[in-house]
Amino acid sequence: MQNSHDTSDTNRRTFLKAGTLAGVAALAPSIASAHNGDKEIRVALVGCGGRGTGAAAQSLSVPGTKLVALADAFPDKVSAAYDGLKKQFGDRVDVPEELRLHGFDAYKKAIDNADLVLLCTTPGFRPVHFEYAVSKGKHVFMEKPVAVDGPGVRKVIEAAKQADAKKLKVVCGLQRHYQNNYIATLEEIKKGVIGKILSTQVYWSGGGVWTRPRVEGMTEMEYQMRNWFYFNWLCGDHICEQHIHNIDVSNWFLGAFPVKANGIGGRTQRIGKDWGEIFDHHYVEYTYADGTVMNSQCKHWNGTWSKVSETIIGTKGTAVAGMIKDLDGKMIWRYRGENNNPYQTEHDILVKHILEDKPINNALHTAYSTLTAIMGRMATYSGKEVTWEQALNSDLDTMPKTLAWDADPGPKMGSNGLYPAPIPGETKVF
Ligand SMILES: NC(=O)c1ccc[n+]([C@@H]2O[C@H](COP(=O)([O-])OP(=O)(O)OC[C@H]3O[C@@H](n4cnc5c(N)ncnc54)[C@H](O)[C@@H]3O)[C@@H](O)[C@H]2O)c1
Repeated sequence: MQNSHDTSDTNRRTFLKAGTLAGVAALAPSIASAHNGDKEIRVALVGCGGRGTGAAAQSLSVPGTKLVALADAFPDKVSAAYDGLKKQFGDRVDVPEELRLHGFDAYKKAIDNADLVLLCTTPGFRPVHFEYAVSKGKHVFMEKPVAVDGPGVRKVIEAAKQADAKKLKVVCGLQRHYQNNYIATLEEIKKGVIGKILSTQVYWSGGGVWTRPRVEGMTEMEYQMRNWFYFNWLCGDHICEQHIHNIDVSNWFLGAFPVKANGIGGRTQRIGKDWGEIFDHHYVEYTYADGTVMNSQCKHWNGTWSKVSETIIGTKGTAVAGMIKDLDGKMIWRYRGENNNPYQTEHDILVKHILEDKPINNALHTAYSTLTAIMGRMATYSGKEVTWEQALNSDLDTMPKTLAWDADPGPKMGSNGLYPAPIPGETKVF
């Protein structure tokens, strides 16, 4: 397993070569020279929420780009994104009325009209949107996670291969890969500073995120689409939506993906009508093929201990991003270089690779890290040990059969006003 799908896809090779610290620091002037004025990259944004609007602003901050289309499920999200981006970027936002699109199929026309698409909807739709973008020969920035279930991951893996075959450039929003202190720490680990890695500990423990309560007159589909964080077909649970960042650092630093997972989880604090069907805490023990263990914990509990980070434990020392200590706890290395904004750097790098026609494709790695998080969720929901193959080959497709505002999205509220949550030992996950 360790060797059969290690992290050495185009993403890692290209990034570790072209995206070293020197490479990142030198990037801004080199984009300006790569953009010699005769190439204009037409950008479409699909998913005009918080992150999508941010990603569009970062893409428009790179010379040579122009925003030409916007698509969202909801018209209010399209107009808010248009107004905000127009105010900030003026003529660089050139989106005619007919390309300010809304509805479940809006993504198609937006993608058709662009060279580069930013896929920033809720994660459940990513596989279909990515597949379509690749089929149309478009370069892609897409947010993590890239799927919420096994069938979705398989679709992304297939499209990632197609993207390579078509020489498309794909960058994904696991932005720690573009963050100087993480890159420098990995370089130290590769030199052997902490010795052989024995285990990793990764955390996203905090108070949780927003809820978007039901408003009178909403259909069930609209309600779930607006309050998407709490429904698995849209979000994949917070282990997938947020904690993927930390789980991914373990995979990235180890250069491998786990072969199995077992775990515990449930909901204790977030029980109520606005909190849908997901758990509010998960602890997962992942095992890699060589026996290395990743201990992963994530929770959405107010008023409790919080931590969002990753610790890599070796035979000679311990690393966190930007800092390495020996076994006695003495600091032996600290990152003292420039700090960058990785959300911007990922767009700088993507545009540079498009302009220079150089290979970059993060999709396969991101699909595998997404699957790692899904495998963890399967383990906590079922209470059983789950293998990589079981997660990958699962036929449990969470996407509704029909996408329409009056269609059945799947999860059903009970007579107590609550959506049933998984019960370990009873819930089937594949
Ligand atoms: N890399 C990061 O640090 C980071 C940070 C925040 C969010 N994200 C990711 O970005 C994505 C979006 O998160 P957000 O915070 O912007 O959420 P959001 O709710 O603010 O925005 C999501 C948008 O997608 C739209 N949408 C949903 N389904 C759609 C469809 N089928 N077609 C078109 N539009 C659709 C929604 O209407 C909404 O406007 C998520 O995958 C999230 O995990 C990443």
